[in-house]
Amino acid sequence: MNTCVTGLQWGDEGKGKVVDILAENSDVVIRYAGGANAGHTVIIGDTKFALHLLPSGSVRPGVACVIGNGVVVDPSVLIEEINGLTEKGIDLTGRLFISENAHVVIDYHKQEDILREESLGKNKIGTTARGIGPCYADKTGRSYAIRMADFLDLKSLDAKLENIVEYKNKIFSALYNAKCVPAKELSAKCRIYAERLSPFIANTTRYLHESAAKGKSLLFEGAQGALLDLDHGTFPFVTSSNASSLGMSAGCGVPANMVNKFVGVIKAYTSRVGSGPFPTEQDNEIGNTIREKGHEYGTTTGRPRRCGWLDAVAVMYSAKIGGITEIAMMHLDTLAGFKELKICKAYVIDGKETNWFEPEAGKLSKAQCVYETFAGWTEDLSGVQKFEDLPKNAKIYIAAVEKFTGVTVSMVGVGPKRSQVIYK
Ligand code: GDP
Ligand code: IMO
Ligand code: MG
Repeated sequence: MNTCVTGLQWGDEGKGKVVDILAENSDVVIRYAGGANAGHTVIIGDTKFALHLLPSGSVRPGVACVIGNGVVVDPSVLIEEINGLTEKGIDLTGRLFISENAHVVIDYHKQEDILREESLGKNKIGTTARGIGPCYADKTGRSYAIRMADFLDLKSLDAKLENIVEYKNKIFSALYNAKCVPAKELSAKCRIYAERLSPFIANTTRYLHESAAKGKSLLFEGAQGALLDLDHGTFPFVTSSNASSLGMSAGCGVPANMVNKFVGVIKAYTSRVGSGPFPTEQDNEIGNTIREKGHEYGTTTGRPRRCGWLDAVAVMYSAKIGGITEIAMMHLDTLAGFKELKICKAYVIDGKETNWFEPEAGKLSKAQCVYETFAGWTEDLSGVQKFEDLPKNAKIYIAAVEKFTGVTVSMVGVGPKRSQVIYK
């Protein structure tokens, strides 16, 4: 059984928790897109892990972990993460495989990310400043890129760095009046990275196909969410990879017809970090209450997340483009205590009602939400273990999500812990 888990909103839906739970019955967990912009939380007992590059399955001993070719790898973050797990007694030796074709985030990418955002002023994207956009730009640009395999040939890596730094310096000085980190400094750092990471560099596409042929079960872990997908999200307020499940095949070399289940993760409401339109946003007491009750502060940047009602128009769209077969809805517990809850079931854009999501940022920012209102519940859900034991109004809310999105809700989150999930 192979399963792909992706976010259906603007990220931070609770993918880390869902992947950790599903990893119990998986042999290999694979990240296929994004980079250290991701922040996936896994809580085991009293220990909290915030994973940025390692797949969330890495906290389970015995599970193999793959960082696919579609990921952009920041070696400093990855090494810190590997060391962090080692300190907690979790060893990745022999079970972590990093694609030789994955592109590497170098210091100048992070520099460029920050410089570009500063130059955009009020039009900035609100990136995580992790160098994601510039690294993917170099990947598609082809001529000035470093891949993991380059760590295996340091002499030619040095020559590439010299060439790239010369090129970046021309751009940085012309556009930003800035200088790129010197090649020598980068070369010294890369030697340290290469020494630590070389043992993990592999042909991961081959590894995945060989594992599947042996009957191993694969679990694919998306980063970000479908609405941040470069092609299908709210462009330009998106990330620079195909963050929806559509990025899975290209991002690790495994075709979609090898996947049996596509699980879409949502929150029972909506959150967003960074700029861009957000039709159901509640920039008021309602949003503040959700933020405080749900601890909605970024796992990677610590920024307060913008919060609002559930947008079923957006979720239905994400589910359709992602081939989603079931929904895992997290944070139902966070909605306890609201007298009423709203779900957006359609938009009115330029006087016309539609239930098809509009990813174009300009048009989406004009969307007026058509809401259906539901009665809330006051019960604390954090200890509920069975679907039958949920309050009646919570069940009605779940049924409405299924009706508006056309997808079954198979898992419901009632708290951040592994055990706080209900199967329907
Ligand atoms: P990801 O990026 O999709 O993995 O999500 P994040 O880890 O960035 O953010 C999700 C946050 O919600 C984390 O702090 C989780 O510990 C927490 N969380 C996950 N599921 C639930 C849930 O059902 N209820 C509550 N209250 N918190 C949850
Ligand atoms: P996980 O995997 C939420 C957002 C940023 C910004 C936009 C572009 O934890 O769900 P980037 O640094 O990628 O160029 O930023 O995308 N963003 C995320 N928002 N969760 C994430 O990851 C995100 N990764 C990027 O806030 O708006
Ligand atoms: Mg996150």
